[in-house]
Amino acid sequence: MALLSIANLQVIALSCIGALIAYRVYWEATTGAARRSLARQHGCLPPRLFRSKYWLFGLDVFLANIKAYREHRLLERWTNTLTSHNAHTLIAKVFGQTVLWTDDPENVKTMLATNFDQWSLGQERIQQMKAYLGHGIFTSEGASWKHSRDMLRPCFERSQVADISILEKHTARLLQNVPKDGATVDLQPLLHELTLDVATEFLFGRSTDAQDHGREDNACKEFIDAFEYCENPMTERNERLGFLAFFLPDRKFKKCAKAIRDFTDRIIDEEITILSQNTKDADRASTGRYVFLDELLSATQNRTVIRSELLNILLAGRDTTASLLSNLIWELSRQPAMLSRLRQEIEDSIGNDIPTYQQLKDMKYLKALINESQRMYPIVPSNSRQALHDAILPRGGGPDGQSPTIVPKGAYVAYLPWAMHRRRDVYGDDAEVFDPTRWLDEGHASSPLRPGWAYLPFSGGPRICIGQNFALTECMFVIVRLLQVFDVEQRDEEPWREKLGITCVGLGGCKVGLRPRG
Ligand code: HEM
Repeated sequence: MALLSIANLQVIALSCIGALIAYRVYWEATTGAARRSLARQHGCLPPRLFRSKYWLFGLDVFLANIKAYREHRLLERWTNTLTSHNAHTLIAKVFGQTVLWTDDPENVKTMLATNFDQWSLGQERIQQMKAYLGHGIFTSEGASWKHSRDMLRPCFERSQVADISILEKHTARLLQNVPKDGATVDLQPLLHELTLDVATEFLFGRSTDAQDHGREDNACKEFIDAFEYCENPMTERNERLGFLAFFLPDRKFKKCAKAIRDFTDRIIDEEITILSQNTKDADRASTGRYVFLDELLSATQNRTVIRSELLNILLAGRDTTASLLSNLIWELSRQPAMLSRLRQEIEDSIGNDIPTYQQLKDMKYLKALINESQRMYPIVPSNSRQALHDAILPRGGGPDGQSPTIVPKGAYVAYLPWAMHRRRDVYGDDAEVFDPTRWLDEGHASSPLRPGWAYLPFSGGPRICIGQNFALTECMFVIVRLLQVFDVEQRDEEPWREKLGITCVGLGGCKVGLRPRG
């Protein structure tokens, strides 16, 4: 009996070895040889290997990343990893998946622009986001992405963005809502409400009025909370469950995804009623605005399609601009000299009037402050792409990292604007210092700064942020209006720390004191 078992085991073992050899021969014939030939043709060399203890298929890398995430220093960890290896591109295998990290602008340009068609957003990201957003500009590729982008484009034409009446209406409400007696206030949640109200009126023709705190129903707050949960489920689950969060099912996610759908459906229903009764308010009818929701309704009756497109653009337009504003106001509150220079610029160019689009565009110092805020605290500090075929990156290979390197089909490349924005060879030895003058021609050691692809707050290439101009206009408008009315005092002694989800914002919020200007 025992002998039979041993014989059986031998047969099984030999069959396994045979299958492995057969697979290897097949792989060599279909993939390996072609990959090596492509690598030879382009002079590719392997990138530097990420040194870790590497036990259990890279479990140590995974655990170290989770630990850094929980300690709000994941971005710092990734950046330090590149510097400690003296490399701009590294490779590792985590649970069998090949992953590269890069802060090399040439590599990023290749993925996002030069060889755009060879790279995907990555199926994991798409599936994860589809679970609450459905199919839209953020979760699609190829022809259907192009269709979504074409439909959105007219929203962001200059004539639409230059009409600042929506911004004035909602910013006025923010200024009414804040405490005016110098009491400490965290502006971060208020800015999230503001940008939701602006984005919904701009894109859907009707505002969610999240800033209306006297409302009886709680629907808007529930929507914001549900959206925030779905965007960053790990933030809350991590606090409650620790490492288990990565393995236990998430029932709350489903509940929140439903709340998001229900809320958006109500907006669509109300708009359908208004359109069918022809009762658009006079203000809106007279502006001739391109309202994205109305265009969708005239293009399709499919509720799921409409809802998904709306949610996709809301994700993009809402907390990104709020995070930029929050980071910048937080920084300004601790930089009295910068604040007073900005105040002077406002007084010289606008006074106490409502700024026009053109006046905002001409504010060089405010623009430099926004650039610097986005350099130090990029709202999308890390991102990734997946190779659709064996692909070439122009740099990162070989001992000096200057040779091209091959990225096998299916591998992920994580690129890090956070790290690129801190490169000393681009921004100078004071790259860690917040200094807007580096963006002005005023004799700063690294000016005139021409960072090219080393500065990437809004991404680049065909999928560059479509709302960039709108976001910058909104940000400038809110800052100008706030400073026209208030003195801003520092109320947070702690250094900036990352709160990293789909986007990144200061963990400590934006705590300031506001007093009306004398
Ligand atoms: C400071 C504010 C903003 C920042 C920093 C920002 C940044 C970005 C970045 C980095 C991407 C590329 C994402 C990727 O490739 O994975 C992106 C895409 C996008 N952004 Fe923004 N964004 C901002 C505001 C807005 C606003 C206000 C809107 C619209 C109302 C908007 C609409 C979009 C859309 C639709 C895309 C997807 C474009 C595509 O895939 O074709 N963004 N944004």
